[in-house]
Amino acid sequence: MPEEAAPAARPPLRFLTCGSVDDGKSTLLGRLLHDARLVPDDTLEAVTRDSRRFGTTGEETDLALLLDGLEAEREQGITIDVAHRYFATPRRSFIVADAPGHAQHTRNMATAASTSELAVLLCDVRHGPLTQTRRHAHLCALFGIRHVVLAVNKLDLVGYDEAAFARSVAAWRSFAAPLGFASDVAIPVSARRGDNVVRRSEATPWYAGPTLLAHLEDIDVEAGAEDAPFRLPVQWVNRPDAGFRGYAGTIASGRVAVGEAVVVAVSGAPSRVARILGPRGEQDSAAAGEAVTLCLADETDVARGDVLAHPGSLPAVADQFAAHLVWMDEEAMLPGRQYMARLGHLWTTASVTLIKHRLAPDTLERQPARRLELNDVGFCNLALGTRAAFDPYAENRATGAFILVDRFTNRTVGAGMVAFPLRRAANLHPERFLVDRVSRAALDRQRPLVVWFTGLSGSGKSTVAKLVERALHAEGRHTYALDGDNLRQGLNRDLGFTDQDRVENIRRAGEVAKLLADAGLIVLCSFISPFRAERRMVREMLPEGEFVEVFVDAPLEVCIARDPKGLYARALAGEIANFTGISSPYEPPEAPELRIATAGTTPDAVAEAVLAHLRPLLAR
Ligand code: ADX
Repeated sequence: MPEEAAPAARPPLRFLTCGSVDDGKSTLLGRLLHDARLVPDDTLEAVTRDSRRFGTTGEETDLALLLDGLEAEREQGITIDVAHRYFATPRRSFIVADAPGHAQHTRNMATAASTSELAVLLCDVRHGPLTQTRRHAHLCALFGIRHVVLAVNKLDLVGYDEAAFARSVAAWRSFAAPLGFASDVAIPVSARRGDNVVRRSEATPWYAGPTLLAHLEDIDVEAGAEDAPFRLPVQWVNRPDAGFRGYAGTIASGRVAVGEAVVVAVSGAPSRVARILGPRGEQDSAAAGEAVTLCLADETDVARGDVLAHPGSLPAVADQFAAHLVWMDEEAMLPGRQYMARLGHLWTTASVTLIKHRLAPDTLERQPARRLELNDVGFCNLALGTRAAFDPYAENRATGAFILVDRFTNRTVGAGMVAFPLRRAANLHPERFLVDRVSRAALDRQRPLVVWFTGLSGSGKSTVAKLVERALHAEGRHTYALDGDNLRQGLNRDLGFTDQDRVENIRRAGEVAKLLADAGLIVLCSFISPFRAERRMVREMLPEGEFVEVFVDAPLEVCIARDPKGLYARALAGEIANFTGISSPYEPPEAPELRIATAGTTPDAVAEAVLAHLRPLLAR
């Protein structure tokens, strides 16, 4: 046939396969490679031999083994969550993402789907699409996959019955239609026998549509990327000398030309494109996918993470947004906890301020949730540490996606898709008062300070804080004390002792401590504050040097023996849930300003040690 179009003419089609093992996913992919003659002869011989020994298909070659053979490298690796396989026919090249594992966790789906343009979902014609298929379809839509194929498999097992196929398709459409895919094609196949995979089947004369391969070769998924509004997320500012300043990055969408007006999205500064530099030098224009350096006509302030756009079609700019968040870490997402977010080329802090709902794994029902566990998908409000430019993910996958990273382990813990900006914060303009924190403190001839006592219940935090405050007060210092037990009877009355409530407890306590320090006071805070993430967050709320972390270190046995409030006895008897040290964790500080072992010493001696540390800080 004369259709030897160079495969390089089109970018590869990236697609994802979804289906449980029993649906025949491996067999389908094996069949595709085999019938398209993409398998070397010697591999095929080996597979044919193996089929007789290990296969499940009798005398026939088990094509699932073919794929498993290609997957051998996966078993050697420790964890490869997603396998990418590359193959090409004379008409097109393909990259298949396959999330292994029976349960096909959302985490793996997220990784595979976020780079895929199309999904092939499998179902067994005898059962039709299952809950699992429904979930996959929903996730595909969520991850921005616009094109889907339902491969209705095992037609041979129902005698190529058109009605059986139609039933599967009807069930599929009932939930796929509202998801609004741009294209949705159902194909009757038998992966085992090869019907309608690469070869058109004679057993399905009632089916007039394309074979799976023909469809994958023909489908046009790129339409739109260049027509979308222009976005250049700035990856770095290239400033070799005073004479040159260029903004480098890959154009995420749209086109740009020399002479056009552009806006630096976050600051709103307008300018004009003076030059476009590509890999081969100056160019007049550039489009989505091209890595370029833009020079602007004006001396504008642009930073890494900013986005250049056309004035008529700007991205959203806000420091809060609503988003779908897929949680990918064993450690749960707790609202209020700070993570690092990467949005385009911007790195900033981020926390979830509200979980609006979580999608139930099976039914996809919206459920209330206080935290997100591994593989949960939640619809959340998030707050960033700074204003950022972005688009809704549904409009732009490149500028609407973000990841969350744990600040201690550096693991990627979440993947998010922006739904819409929250404007409330955009309309707030912080007032600067004429009397500031320094002048307030100067009146008291002191330096504001937050002394943060952390440790187990019964370690002696409050006792020591009391003594320290009394001594400071006697010296004429202006102080205030914040205490867990006290705050929990007022401001934090709504909070209990679950991890997420403790995060919120410390977040609020930290905000109050910050205000009191702003008022010029020396603030003595006694909270168990069991998590290092929140202690660090409070530390970072304050100017450098104004947060003094005091680890009141008493072994658990000592606290249990002291048990001043009788709580340990009750916790050990199972009467109090989530009790720190017993049924809830305590993460000791790694580098506190002061660590004091309280066992075998007196509260007065401990207080004296704290005062000795504070005095040089206060004197000024
Ligand atoms: S924190 O973990 O959120 O920082 P916080 O310091 O406010 O705790 O409150 C701790 C106090 O609450 C303890 O001193 C104790 O008196 C009381 N308490 C009641 N239930 C618990 C519990 N499950 N775990 C720890 N402390 C508890």
